[in-house]
Amino acid sequence: MIPSYYEFSNRAKVLSGEAAIDHIPFELKVMECARPIIVTNKQLIELGLLKVVLRALAEGGVQVGAIYDDVPVDSSVAVVNDLAAVYRDQGCDAILAVGGGSVLDTAKGANIVLTTGSEDLNEQMGNEIIVARAMVPFIAVPTTAGTGSEVTGAAVIKDIERHTKMGFVSYALVPDVAVLDPRMTVGLPPRLTASTGMDALTHAVEAFSCRQANPLSDAYARAAIDLVREYLPLVLEDGRNASARLAMANAALLAGVSFSNSMVGIVHAMGHSCGGQCSVAHGDAMGILLPHGMEFNVDHAGPRYAELLLHLAGPEVYASTPAADRAAAAIETVRAMLQFTHERAGMPTKLSEVGVTLEQLPGIATAAMNDGSMTFNPRYAEESDVLQILKAAL
Ligand SMILES: [Fe+2]
Repeated sequence: MIPSYYEFSNRAKVLSGEAAIDHIPFELKVMECARPIIVTNKQLIELGLLKVVLRALAEGGVQVGAIYDDVPVDSSVAVVNDLAAVYRDQGCDAILAVGGGSVLDTAKGANIVLTTGSEDLNEQMGNEIIVARAMVPFIAVPTTAGTGSEVTGAAVIKDIERHTKMGFVSYALVPDVAVLDPRMTVGLPPRLTASTGMDALTHAVEAFSCRQANPLSDAYARAAIDLVREYLPLVLEDGRNASARLAMANAALLAGVSFSNSMVGIVHAMGHSCGGQCSVAHGDAMGILLPHGMEFNVDHAGPRYAELLLHLAGPEVYASTPAADRAAAAIETVRAMLQFTHERAGMPTKLSEVGVTLEQLPGIATAAMNDGSMTFNPRYAEESDVLQILKAAL
């Protein structure tokens, strides 16, 4: 059924291919930029990933304004402010972010600070002012296939003092160009491949079943899940398979476009608070919590999950499963995918395996209730429901 009203936007230009990075100099020229700041982290430099980007920039005659490589795994307001200060000091005119979700989100945070002319991201909490202004030209090169941050208007930044993750959401935060190049992900270890792949899957499943789902976000979610079903096993079998890596990068991007419009729900609400309170890696939390979140939602999202069985398990399983059993089969398929990643790559299947204790669950549940993603969940959840789900996932 078509919603009576919906909005959809996907403004990022996508470059996807085995030499996509080589096209960045042209994109900078189109945006009339000559001095990009590269945002990344030291680990990616050690892995040699930045060399690929620097070579492409040098061959294209681009002078790098600065390289900011101090982004930690869980970025923070202080890092965002520091990055913005370096950008200003070095007279840069574009942001080129090369990294996973934390790097891309840090770049988005700095873009808010730079565009609003402030010095502290905290001043911009809850402000919609950035929507009305031209943002700093922004190119995103993801080095994981999971967050979809290269095409989303969402940035999650940790507030270390308050032990919480702040969410910024605006179409203005969507990067101008998203670059998917398998050279950035062929070296990703299986464990991270699995974890980030489960994040992409969770984006698609939640986007498809959340309250803001619409025909366009649905199309992206379906396509994303088809790719995850086919290519996640292949990249876990052979990480050097460039075409499978490119397919997973596309899956993450498709899921990102979908949830950037339709939003995510209870699984992300709980996952954000597991990250904020107990530093659980985002993808790990997603893999562990997705089947439990689906169980909770099934009475309200059953028909949607039933439709997803086609994409999660493929046409043969879908056709041979009675209509009344498809929603439950979809949840079982997700469970089986998590088990597969556990066996292949050591993905955790319980919260206790990633250090969460029973005593911490009430705090996580309270924080989850305050997370914006809860608003879009298909079923209303009380704090006691969330606690129950977390206990089941422990
Ligand atoms: Fe996510």
